[in-house]
Amino acid sequence: MDDMVHVLEHPLLQHKLSILRDETTGVKDFRQVVGEIATLMCYEATRDLPLKEVTVQTPVAQAVTKKIAGKKLAIVPILRAGLGMVDGVFALIPSAKVGHIGLFRDPETLAPVKYYCKMPQDIAQRDVIVLDPMLATGGSASAAIGFIKEYGVQHIKLMNILAAPEGIARIRADHPDVELYVAAVDQALNDHGYIVPGLGDAGDRIFGTK
Ligand code: PRP
Ligand code: URA
Repeated sequence: MDDMVHVLEHPLLQHKLSILRDETTGVKDFRQVVGEIATLMCYEATRDLPLKEVTVQTPVAQAVTKKIAGKKLAIVPILRAGLGMVDGVFALIPSAKVGHIGLFRDPETLAPVKYYCKMPQDIAQRDVIVLDPMLATGGSASAAIGFIKEYGVQHIKLMNILAAPEGIARIRADHPDVELYVAAVDQALNDHGYIVPGLGDAGDRIFGTK
């Protein structure tokens, strides 16, 4: 793994990921834990936000201290499953603008099919964090990042809860400028393009569609 790939091994993340992997976890808990993981991952993915010095009056004296330097951010969930991570990011960045990209994987070819795209009007001036719980072949995330770049976005990070080695290799090859944040890297993909051992179909488990 190179220094553009951050595998976040915090004990809280590993614990919560075990809850997601468990097939007996129901839709309510699954949805809640996806959100909690997104909050923890967002904390790590925003470590390099620039700060500016400010002076505030405390009840005791003046303090020269720091605030976020007004960096413009946007998050872009990949529909559907990425939606499950949005509220978790809002917990830390409530004013983040949101773009949406709708993609699904063709079950036969595993190629991503785009059905929706709506970005904030000033997206080109923003740093973007793309959200999707699963990075399997990497086809969906790579296509989404390609679409976002077409708007002129310069800085993109990708946040996935679970990744396969194949997906990481695809993003590194297609978008070497994009930093990746994942909570775990699993062994491989099966013949249907599912991550093994994985957690199953993230969209179905978040929305209860199966
Ligand atoms: C899942 C997942 C990713 C994609 C990952 O979405 O949420 O977007 O598959 O696979 P890939 O890395 O091989 O492209 P899916 O196509 O199942 O759509 P959904 O979120 O609407 O369920
Ligand atoms: N999409 C999912 O939701 N799960 C996988 O294991 C692979 C792709």
